[in-house]
Amino acid sequence: MTLPSFLVVSLLPFLLPFLAQSGPNPLNDDVLGLIVFKADVSDPFSHLSSWNEDSDHPCNWYGVSCDLKSNRVTHLALTNLSLSGKLSRGLLLLQYLTTLDLSRNNLTGPLQPDFLRLQNLQTLDLTANSLSGSLPSSFFEQCRSVQSVSLASNGLLGPIPGNVGNCLSLASLNLSYNQFSDVLPSSLWNFVGLRSLDLSNNDLFGTIPPGMNASINMRVINLRNNRFTGQLPGEIGDLALLKSLDLSNNLLNGTLPDSIGRLATCQYLSLSSNLFSGLVPIWIGGMRSLESLDLSWNKFSGEIPSSINHLQFLREVRLSGNSFTGGVPTWVFASGVELVSISDNMLNGAIELAGKSGSALRFLDLSGNALSGWVPPDVSYLKNLQLLNLSRNLLSGDIPATIGDLKLLEALDLSSNNLNHTIPSDICELASLKVLNLEKNSFYGEIPIQIGKCTSLTSLDLSENSLTGQIPMSISKLTKLQRLDLSQNKLTGELPKQLSSCPQLTYFNVSHNQLTGGVPSGTFFDSLPPSSLSDNAGLCGSVLNKSCPAVMPKPIVLNPNSSSSNNPLTQPNLNPTKNLHHKKIILSISTLVAIGGAAIIAVGILTITVLNFRVRSNKSQPATAFDLSDGYLTQSPRSDANSGKLVRIGGGDLEFSAAGHALLNKDCELGRGGFGTVYKTVLRDGQPVAIKKLTVSSLVKSKDDFEREVHSFGKVKHCNLVGLKGYYWTSSLQLLIYEYIPGGNLHKHLHESPASDSLSWLERFDIILGVARGLAHLHRHGVVHYNIKSTNVLLDGSGEPKVADYGLAKLLPMLDRYVLCSKIQSALGYMAPEFACKTVKITEKCDVFGFGVLVMEILTGRRPVEYLEDDVVVLGDAVRVCLEEGRVEELMDPRLGGDFPLEEAVPVVKLGLVCTSQVPSNRPDMCEVVKILEVVRSPQGTPEEELLV
Ligand SMILES: *[C@@H]1O[C@H](CO)[C@@H](O)[C@H](O)[C@H]1NC(C)=O
Ligand SMILES: *[C@@H]1O[C@H](CO)[C@@H](O)[C@H](O)[C@H]1NC(C)=O
Ligand SMILES: *[C@@H]1O[C@H](CO)[C@@H](O)[C@H](O)[C@H]1NC(C)=O
Ligand SMILES: *[C@@H]1O[C@H](CO)[C@@H](O)[C@H](O)[C@H]1NC(C)=O
Ligand SMILES: *[C@@H]1O[C@H](CO)[C@@H](O)[C@H](O)[C@H]1NC(C)=O
Repeated sequence: MTLPSFLVVSLLPFLLPFLAQSGPNPLNDDVLGLIVFKADVSDPFSHLSSWNEDSDHPCNWYGVSCDLKSNRVTHLALTNLSLSGKLSRGLLLLQYLTTLDLSRNNLTGPLQPDFLRLQNLQTLDLTANSLSGSLPSSFFEQCRSVQSVSLASNGLLGPIPGNVGNCLSLASLNLSYNQFSDVLPSSLWNFVGLRSLDLSNNDLFGTIPPGMNASINMRVINLRNNRFTGQLPGEIGDLALLKSLDLSNNLLNGTLPDSIGRLATCQYLSLSSNLFSGLVPIWIGGMRSLESLDLSWNKFSGEIPSSINHLQFLREVRLSGNSFTGGVPTWVFASGVELVSISDNMLNGAIELAGKSGSALRFLDLSGNALSGWVPPDVSYLKNLQLLNLSRNLLSGDIPATIGDLKLLEALDLSSNNLNHTIPSDICELASLKVLNLEKNSFYGEIPIQIGKCTSLTSLDLSENSLTGQIPMSISKLTKLQRLDLSQNKLTGELPKQLSSCPQLTYFNVSHNQLTGGVPSGTFFDSLPPSSLSDNAGLCGSVLNKSCPAVMPKPIVLNPNSSSSNNPLTQPNLNPTKNLHHKKIILSISTLVAIGGAAIIAVGILTITVLNFRVRSNKSQPATAFDLSDGYLTQSPRSDANSGKLVRIGGGDLEFSAAGHALLNKDCELGRGGFGTVYKTVLRDGQPVAIKKLTVSSLVKSKDDFEREVHSFGKVKHCNLVGLKGYYWTSSLQLLIYEYIPGGNLHKHLHESPASDSLSWLERFDIILGVARGLAHLHRHGVVHYNIKSTNVLLDGSGEPKVADYGLAKLLPMLDRYVLCSKIQSALGYMAPEFACKTVKITEKCDVFGFGVLVMEILTGRRPVEYLEDDVVVLGDAVRVCLEEGRVEELMDPRLGGDFPLEEAVPVVKLGLVCTSQVPSNRPDMCEVVKILEVVRSPQGTPEEELLV
């Protein structure tokens, strides 16, 4: 064979009749036929490159196989090779071909009428090409031994030729996914050998022709997705070997013939989406092999037959969209069924689970019925459940907590019921939950913050309930969320800014709530339709064409001015239009009190000095174990009942290094405070300690009282509190021994250190947080500090703040207003206003006030009260004015050099202000303060933040 292929192709019309008939060289027929085929198709990926007309051995060519004896081509399998072009007549030369598989290519044009003329052909598979035109009426005329024909998934149209019945050897005919139309020829049932008939997804109509019972070998009938009308012939029951019958999506009507019950080998029965009516009688129990039953979307009525319970192989039951009545059948929960869908019927009554365990149920859809009562708590027995849809019923009550046991549950739809409870906080024990639809109920209360644990959620719909409170910030942890609908509730507060970090979000609706504040930024939120935010008077942002007040940096907003609300964590009363730029600050009551106190402090210092002198001069005090002569502390050999004793808190020995060490020497003095003078010394084990000598000895309680008090606050240990190591008591001298903190006090760092040495933003924040934690810890143990100020905050070597001097006020027996005030005066400007009022109880909230002032001092680097030439500036007032005018940057300590994140600074400033609220109940407590600071510190969210929002 040496003809160049172009010549072969051009000569083919003339050669073909000759070649096909004579064939003196049979081998060449195969080669020529294949080469002609190759010439007729385009082979973009050169799969047929091995097909070379110079070769005498086509049996080695790609996709070709031969009979071993005759060496003639018997199989041609060229599936999914992107071949295009027409179906070549060259194939007619392959006289010994038994199998021709050209499926999944892009062959076009009409089907050759004489294709089945190939006398040995058994299998013809042209599935999934682009063949078009109608099937020639002669197509089935000469099919001799053809057993299997698939023309599925092409563009063939017109009627199915009546002579299809001529192919008596045909076992499988697949004409699905074409556009065949017209009525079915009754000869269709002629071939007794037919086992599989697939005419689905065409445009066939008319009734199913009679004579079906002739096809006694039939295993599979698929007529779905056509327009067949009329009734299902009763003969169907004679197809004793039928395994699968799919008549779905047609227009068949009438009642089901009882003969169906004889289909004892049938595994798959789908009659869905037709017009069948009447009862489903108990004969259904005769279809013993049934694995999948689909009667959905018909007009069946009456009760669901309990005989279904006998079908031990049944796995999937679809009965939705009928008019079935009665209760939920018990077999739903008791048998081995994995999928049950009885939605959109008329079932009523309560859901009662009969079986307790071993249910195989994975999908349960009972939506759209009239079921009442509760979601049964024993739903938790359905351990394999992946989908539970009870929506559109009349269920009331709550979601049982046991639902958390359904570890495999991926979708829970309880929407459109009358559920009237809070959303259980443990709903997210369902870690695999992807879809949670609770819309259109009467859920009330807050969205549980634990919703953040449902990390698999892609869709969350809580719309049309009565939910209140804020949208928990934790919702932004649902990074797979695509759909979030919270519309038509009573939610308040702001939208969590972090929502902008939900990357998959495609639908978002919070309309018809009472939300306030800015809409999160980001391309998704910027392009939201306004309708998904509408009817929330307080929302603002460019997408709503409504600008937000200037300072809106953080979700936590504190209102220092609120006096009516008992919740300090509410919306600020910012008024950006108010211009107070050059306003002289009028002295507030607290200022006056503070200044009044300044006069008293002078008296106080005088008293202290006198007392101090008295202690020092009292050298002959006999009852001390320490000799304080000359300001030296030496261990005395005398030890009688009245003598003072050095007591270590928590037990153990406490010994100073060397007798004669200058203990209370002026050279070792660290500082003086309202309660005494502090000295540094070293214990025998080399540990440095600070000793506070109380200078108000005459006011100190009895020894027992003293010891009790010291023990009570001495036990309170925290890394942000200066630890009390021990004490010493005689009637004339009281010492408190503290751990020594080397870094000096905060006051020095803020006001006296060189600018080069000033604290960074991070250090300042850490100090604020540390002090807050220290105070919170004190309060938790019932200890009020009474004297918080920057000189009482010590910094250790690593900059960690330690609160000193806590609890000392309790040592004073005559804790009258005068003495206390005189003590507090040293804390000028830190004093809470209620100190000035004799009737108000002094509580932890006094410390909160002092802390607030301290915060502002740390942020601004300014003293709580500053005396200018002709003005007195109270820090809190100055800060408030700046904040109101949005000039927070100006407020901050110039030594920071502008190096601070505004989004952290602003909330901390506000926190400082709210802590200094005039009304004590408006101040947060220290635990809240700590949580707020932690949230400010970690904008991406922490577990603590969940507790707060
Ligand atoms: C067809 O071939 C393509 C690539 O050549 C492959 O990705 C695809 O899975 C194949 N399809 C079938 C049905 O074999
Ligand atoms: C099939 O062929 C038609 C016509 O040549 C062409 O438009 C179409 O893109 C092809 N399809 C594939 C999957 O190659
Ligand atoms: C008929 O062909 C279609 C398309 O390839 C296929 O999905 C279907 O399973 C076939 N029918 C039968 C009964 O094999
Ligand atoms: C079934 O539909 C046909 C028309 O397609 C109609 O003539 C016949 O009355 C219907 N039978 C029933 C029982 O509804
Ligand atoms: C919920 O609704 C049911 C039925 O209407 C009622 O009996 C029940 O008291 C309601 N419960 C609550 C907490 O409102």
